[in-house]
Parts: sequence; structure tokens; C-alpha cells
Amino acid sequence: MAQPVRKAVFPVAGRGTRFLPATKVIPKEMIPIVDKPVIQYAVEEARAAGIEHFIFVISNGKEAIASHFEEHTELEQTLEALGKTAEVSLVRDVTLPHGSLNSVKQEEPLGLGHAVWCARDLVGNQPFAVILPDDMVLSKTPCLKQILDIYADVGGHVVAVEDVSRDKTNKYGILDVTKDMGNLVRARGLVEKPLPENAPSTLAIIGRYVLDPMVFEVLGNHKRGTGDEIQLTDALNSMIQKLPLHGLRFEGLRYDCGSQIGFVEANVAFALAHTEISESIKPLLRKLLNHK
Ligand code: UTP
Repeated sequence: MAQPVRKAVFPVAGRGTRFLPATKVIPKEMIPIVDKPVIQYAVEEARAAGIEHFIFVISNGKEAIASHFEEHTELEQTLEALGKTAEVSLVRDVTLPHGSLNSVKQEEPLGLGHAVWCARDLVGNQPFAVILPDDMVLSKTPCLKQILDIYADVGGHVVAVEDVSRDKTNKYGILDVTKDMGNLVRARGLVEKPLPENAPSTLAIIGRYVLDPMVFEVLGNHKRGTGDEIQLTDALNSMIQKLPLHGLRFEGLRYDCGSQIGFVEANVAFALAHTEISESIKPLLRKLLNHK
């Protein structure tokens, strides 16, 4: 029986260069999709999956990410005095319980593996989830919940996977599949960003992981990989004989908000899925398309 997963790490220390100049002073994760910052969707997904402890790996200038989830008494009092009760709820709902939020700095962006390693003391000796907020998923069951349910059965390491077109394998960690059971696959290896001709499959890891704390030991070797970065996929690959790695073809649609096109696509998709504005958006989109 696998141990319950209570902690999630949010690596948000990247530079966000693809969104310059928007990200000159504002963290990429604080840019809204429809009505909420990207990071809020990630935290809400984690809460819906039963996560109780939230760990942000930030870099200088990204302190606003943690502040967004802390109590803001002054703002609440001002809104209350103005009789804005709905807005008070909006502010309060986003606040995480006292003691459930920590952040740690990654001094240099040495790669995703290094960012995860920076959270080692806050995670301790228990399995934990990793969420990359850029990958946003619209699904019936929250994507992380789907991963955690599988983890409860199979243990080891579990990642969310998606079939991508072969010309895009060089943007992802790709699984070398040994057993395909439909929704669930077992990997015998992983390759970070392989060229299409070298990719062992087209099954790509997207930003949801459940990891064993033993991964910190391997990441602690600070071995550089593709792009001269410390890669999480390299660590998982080197442990694959000891700790099985499963990939889940999750139910839902994933949007890559780390790219400009994906960001626009996510705004449209989340607007169409939004209970209050969906109906107003549809004719608006039709009108825009008819003008083209
Ligand atoms: P990306 O590859 O999207 O990089 O990182 P980025 O810096 O955020 O964005 P661009 O490419 O410059 O536009 C994937 C995830 O890993 C985190 C990022 O914050 C993002 O959530 N990351 C990456 C770190 O936390 N630290 C790193 O050293 C690298």
C-alpha cells in the first residue's frame, strides 16, 4: 500500500523568457487565464486532490506567488467596509490555511531537477507531488487526483503523459514504453527532449508527477543533462530499475500556457468552460471569426 501524498511542490523559479516583456517584473505564473492567475489553477487542482502542504520553489522577484495565497487582512477589511461581500469571499477563498504554505528560493535556474531538489528539506521523507503550473488541464476529475489514484495502486514514480506529434518530441521528456496497458503504461527508460528520429515513443511527460523522496539523493549529484540543466527526467531514468515508473494517459485536455499560442488557447478554452461567461463568449468568438 503506497503512503498517502500530502505535499506538493510547485517549481516556479524559471525565467519566463517566452513571455517578455510581460514577465519583466510580473512572474509568469501571476498572469491571469480568464479571471485567475495561472498559479491559482494549479493550487486549486492540488487542493481538490487532497494536498495539504504547498511548497513554492521561487526565484528573486517571484515573492508575489506565495503572497497571493496568504491572508490579506487590510484588503478584506477595506472590502467589508465597502459592503463588497462577494469580493471578500474571492480574496478569502484563495488564502491557504496557516502553516500549509512554504516557499524556498532556487538561487540560480539550473533546471527543473535542481528546482525540485531545492524543496528537499520542506518535503522530508515522504512521497510528494510536483505540479508545473504552465501545464493547465481541463478535466472532469482533477489531473493530479487521477495521478494520485494510480499511485495508490502502483507506487514508485507516476507521471502524467500525453501522445504528442513526432515533430514535437524535442520539447518534452519522452517515455521508452515496456508495457502498454491502455490508460496506464510502464516505462523502461526516459529521454529528455529527443530529436524526433531518436525518440523511443511519442508519449510525453506533462507537468504532473508523484515522486519518491529517494529522488532527492540522485538530484543531489547535480549532474547536468540536456541544455546543461539538471533534469528531473534523468534522475527518474537512473532510478527506473529500483523504482518503477508509470505514465497515466489522463482524462482531459492539456494547454501549454508556457507558450504564447498555448496561453491564448487556454484563455479561450477556460472562458468557454467558465459557467458565468461561457454563453457570452461563444457569439463573440463567432463574430471575430466571421470578420476574418
Ligand atoms: P520552462 O522550461 O517553461 O522555463 O520551465 P521557464 O523559465 O519557466 O520559461 P521560458 O522557457 O524561459 O519562457 C518549466 C517549469 O520549470 C520551472 C519553471 O518555473 C516552470 O514551471 N523551472 C525551470 C524552475 O523552477 N527552475 C529552473 O531552473 C527551470
